[in-house]
Amino acid sequence: MTSTAPDERVSLLVADGAGLSTLADDVRRGLQAPPLELPPKHFYDARGSALFEQICDLPEYYPTRTERLIIERRASDIARLTGAGELVELGAGTATKTRVLLDALRDHGSLERYIPFDIDAATLQLTGRSIAADYPSLRSVDCVAGDFERDLQLIPAKRPGVRRLVAFLGGTIGNFDTPARRDLLRTVASQLHAGDHLLLGADLVKDPAVIEAAYNDAAGVTAEFNRNVLEVINRELQAEFPVGAFDHVAFYDETNEWIEMRLRAARELKVTVRALGLVLRFEPGDEIRTEISAKFTPGRLAADLAACGLEPVELMSDPDSLFALVLARPA
Ligand code: SAH
Ligand code: TRP
Repeated sequence: MTSTAPDERVSLLVADGAGLSTLADDVRRGLQAPPLELPPKHFYDARGSALFEQICDLPEYYPTRTERLIIERRASDIARLTGAGELVELGAGTATKTRVLLDALRDHGSLERYIPFDIDAATLQLTGRSIAADYPSLRSVDCVAGDFERDLQLIPAKRPGVRRLVAFLGGTIGNFDTPARRDLLRTVASQLHAGDHLLLGADLVKDPAVIEAAYNDAAGVTAEFNRNVLEVINRELQAEFPVGAFDHVAFYDETNEWIEMRLRAARELKVTVRALGLVLRFEPGDEIRTEISAKFTPGRLAADLAACGLEPVELMSDPDSLFALVLARPA
């Protein structure tokens, strides 16, 4: 049976100036002079979130199914080690893998609250409602729409005496360079109390060909996802990017151990951005960096955690060591 009655267990808090409000500044700052760059958070409008869901199912995109496998194998251990009553999830998206964790926490008997945090408020709300409907034992689902680089303080305080688990899955932590990654982890760590844990999903260093294939799928979905940031700018800032005139580029940088995603102008272009009164000029071959996705060695992970006041409790991986889940606690 489906019900359309609002579920009073579900709340939504939207950060002031979340999401699109920084787009104008980001375009002014990032596209007028080299190095051309856009922050990745602008990929995720409704279409971008849907395209990312498709990426997760691509044969080349190993992270999602591998992380899912690790969670399936270790969820009951995670429930036992954390005893968490509250699950906070950063960059929750559709929270598909999260359900495996929620199942384990429910079966452990500790689960009472889920707090998904994401920049895409529309997807977030659907996720929150659907989780509430499927987990009747949850007392509340408190959604927070915001930017995890600015708005983490909006995450509601935990109920006294309850242990909290903060999950940050999907390898999204790799989408930050080292200083930004450590700022974020430090902020997360500062919000943890004794008995709380962080569960961090990180993609591991491996054969570059395997990594590059994951970001250059044969069906071209990743290319569409990458170009979607231009569609967002066209719609939100009345710009006239000829989206098809930008090629998707993704390559592994072995020195930095990260994938770099770019959009490359295929020809000379003059692009009007009406809302900003700007005309952007591109030469053929000019590239806009749209995202990095860092890959980790266990050493790099340990160093990042230690630098942020976190202590690893358990490192979990798959048989091929493609992906890692680290359970950590305040040091
Ligand atoms: N956790 C899911 C989704 C990962 S994709 C999974 O593992 O499959 C990254 C998610 O982070 C998206 O849902 C996106 O909307 C969100 N996101 C990206 N940048 C963000 C930001 N700056 N602040 C908050 N959420 C962000
Ligand atoms: N967090 C995902 C990752 O780093 C995001 C992602 C996957 C992505 N494919 C992409 C971002 C393609 C931009 C373009 O794997």
